Amino acid sequence: MARKILVTAALPYANGSIHIGHLVEYIQTDIWVRFQKMRGHDCIYCCADDTHGTPIMIRARQEGIPPEELIARVHGEHTRDFAGFAVAFDNYYTTHSPENRQLSETIYSRLKEKGHIVTRDVEQAYCQQDQMFLPDRFIRGTCPKCGAPDQYGDSCEICHATYTPLDLKDAVCSVCKKPPMRRKSKHYFFQLGNFTQELQEWMQGGRIHEQVQNKLQEWFSQGLRDWDISRDAPYFGFLIPGETDKYFYVWLDAPIGYMASTMDYCRRKGLKFEDYWCSRDTEIHHFIGKDITYFHALFWPAMLMGAGFNTPTRLTIHGFLTVNGEKMSKSRGTFISAATYLKYLDPEYLRYYYACKLGPGTEDIDLNTGDFVLRVNSDLVGKLANLASRSVPMLTKGLGGRLGEVSLEGRVLLKVLQDHAETIAEDYETRNYATAVRRICGLADEVNRYFDQRKPWSAIKEDPEHARETLTVSLNAVRLLTIYLKPVLPGYAAKIEKILRIEPLRWTDAGKLLENWEIGVFDRLVERVDSKKVDEMIEESKEQQAAARPAQPSPLEAEPLAEQISFEEFMKVDLRVAQVMKVETIEGADKLLRLELDLGGQTKTVMAGIRQAYKPEDLLGKKMIVAANLAPRKMKFGVSEGMILAAGPGGKEVFALTIDEGAKPGQRVH
Ligand code: 2FM
Ligand code: ZN
Repeated sequence: MARKILVTAALPYANGSIHIGHLVEYIQTDIWVRFQKMRGHDCIYCCADDTHGTPIMIRARQEGIPPEELIARVHGEHTRDFAGFAVAFDNYYTTHSPENRQLSETIYSRLKEKGHIVTRDVEQAYCQQDQMFLPDRFIRGTCPKCGAPDQYGDSCEICHATYTPLDLKDAVCSVCKKPPMRRKSKHYFFQLGNFTQELQEWMQGGRIHEQVQNKLQEWFSQGLRDWDISRDAPYFGFLIPGETDKYFYVWLDAPIGYMASTMDYCRRKGLKFEDYWCSRDTEIHHFIGKDITYFHALFWPAMLMGAGFNTPTRLTIHGFLTVNGEKMSKSRGTFISAATYLKYLDPEYLRYYYACKLGPGTEDIDLNTGDFVLRVNSDLVGKLANLASRSVPMLTKGLGGRLGEVSLEGRVLLKVLQDHAETIAEDYETRNYATAVRRICGLADEVNRYFDQRKPWSAIKEDPEHARETLTVSLNAVRLLTIYLKPVLPGYAAKIEKILRIEPLRWTDAGKLLENWEIGVFDRLVERVDSKKVDEMIEESKEQQAAARPAQPSPLEAEPLAEQISFEEFMKVDLRVAQVMKVETIEGADKLLRLELDLGGQTKTVMAGIRQAYKPEDLLGKKMIVAANLAPRKMKFGVSEGMILAAGPGGKEVFALTIDEGAKPGQRVH
């Protein structure tokens, strides 16, 4: 029986670009939705931009534009990035919409009527200069516990203590750098504790992966506290009914955005919103990251319960993305935006790689760049696409492009593939994509073995019908494997459908075979990944970071301090005097100079990001300090064998250390 399913992924904030970390979730969700659609279910994928809150208001101010202009621009960028990765939303809306305002007001007034909303005064940091209450992340000061300077208002990145902004020492507003004062104001609270029992009951029955259950139990045993749902003006959001200077906190209206997006979709399609959010027959699935579990497992279902709407059927919670085993890093170039990725690589590689790594749990997933190249080239290209790219041209060139009947032996092999339809479907249904891909590759191995044993490339000369028999089986296998891969690789599947001249494949098509059928011409399916492209993409991400770094980093973008290193580690850097023998600009690299350095008999070539600050002639003959024992590093424009000491915010403001004439090249300095 067809199920009616509404699926959402978390709404991305409207003040930043989509990057490969975000894409784990949108691709994971998209695969699930595409699978459900192929199974014939009535499934829709709704999402939106999360547009409200202080960071967005401040970002718009910094850019000197109204927040509406900022969110409209970012909406365009997000829509383009998602489309680039074939993430096919049925609706991509915005939380700054009339539907979202109306629904937020409805939910709030229902909760209020039932006595779940209370008000009380809260004392908070207030900046007189900017005339605003400061969210924790907009206050910087000295950690009250360990004394580390320049910490956020809620936690210390050095000793990991958590505290309230009022405890921070020497606190300043991160916008104007002036000390804030304390000020009281009335806040609205949602009494989450009233829903303790209902939430506990709701959580039974496998709605959330068991890995998260412990965390949930911990929250319940601590007792559910009231949730502050209001923020004072100035704020970018929706006014609370009856107030003139108090707004709903962004996290109140953000998940309501799931409903608003559904409502907009229903209006466009002539459907009923109530069928999704008020009928018990509909399933609601939210895909989220583990960092926002509290909002989705507690606040959100409680709000829905209180307001009389459907609660989520299931939360799928994924872990974070690491790249080469580490957190994505701007300076290492692994903070790769969707747009930069698309300049260098095929989006289907990433869809395939994420599918290879994704299971139903909350473990972090690692994108290892070497493994990425290997898996795409050996499995996707070498096993799956190769089967089609060997079979199709052989059939079209030598055998009139006509499939014959499937032989008895072929039927046995294809039956094995067909018998996997339900197993693989269950893998997708339960979000075990890695298992699904493994099974599919295993089946492809069997078909490749059959193909190699029967050698159609040589049979085609002496016994063309023998070759036709083989190709009929291999292309039927290609068709079956394409059905199983289609949720992951929609672009690849579309090409196969076109080559085979068949209708868009659905899951039930696995029950049929293609016989006595004329296929179309071959079209290139998927290229091998060139690992140079991966390097170039990382290099560009590094350069973007260097170029984008503002002279005054805004509090949102300020990077936390890197991991501590010991004095001994630091002393391993071998600093030497080096004389600049040659300076060259590099075609295409407007930030780099290539320096040839004499270290007293030994020559090193170093690429230095100082082109905008120094003219080549200013440096020629100068003595500088170089970190001489740095391992050579391959960059886009060549190998750099060291690093000169230079620092600064970027652009013209980079200052290289030069040393007096008397110093000898090669001399060690401290
Ligand atoms: O954490 C985030 O990026 C939020 N913008 C997610 C919101 S999801 C939903 F609740 F709107
Ligand atoms: Zn201020």
